[in-house]
Amino acid sequence: MRIVFLMMIFVSVSANADGQAEYKYREGVMQAIRGQIASIGAIARGQVHQENMAMHARAMSDLARVLPDVFPEGSDVGKSEALPEIWSDPEGFRVETDLFIEVTGAFLEAAENDGDVSGTLRRVQRSCKSCHDGFRED
Ligand code: HEC
Repeated sequence: MRIVFLMMIFVSVSANADGQAEYKYREGVMQAIRGQIASIGAIARGQVHQENMAMHARAMSDLARVLPDVFPEGSDVGKSEALPEIWSDPEGFRVETDLFIEVTGAFLEAAENDGDVSGTLRRVQRSCKSCHDGFRED
């Protein structure tokens, strides 16, 4: 009896630890995405370091492709601003991660071809906002 009780505590503690670790990991990914978009904006506005635009675009596109995997159940812990709709409406959330992957891919293509990136950059920014509006606390 006591062993079962101890095992239950262990299981719930380790589930929490995983959720916390997943949340920490996700926070880093989101901060990394924000870092890319900040540098991309600075390049676009200030005409500095044009040579790095495609590199930042590639990093953001790579990060976008891990987003579907960084919201496992049980990771809405601590200070997380993730809304429960992420898990209660997985299809709606999938639409947002798919869109983000698509627009960051289009942005990468524009950046690699040295084209005008302003249109695709706006689409990327709208995609952040669209997902945050539906799935992140204010
Ligand atoms: C598919 C949905 C989705 C997309 C797309 C998305 N985000 Fe987020 N973002 C979230 C959610 C949900 C959270 C809250 C996560 C949490 O607190 O557990 C978040 C949190 C953040 C945070 C706070 C991280 C922290 O320190 O807690 C930043 C910064 C952020 N997003 C920036 C961006 C930027 C910039 C973009 C676009 C370039 C973007 N996000 C695109 C869903 C998304």
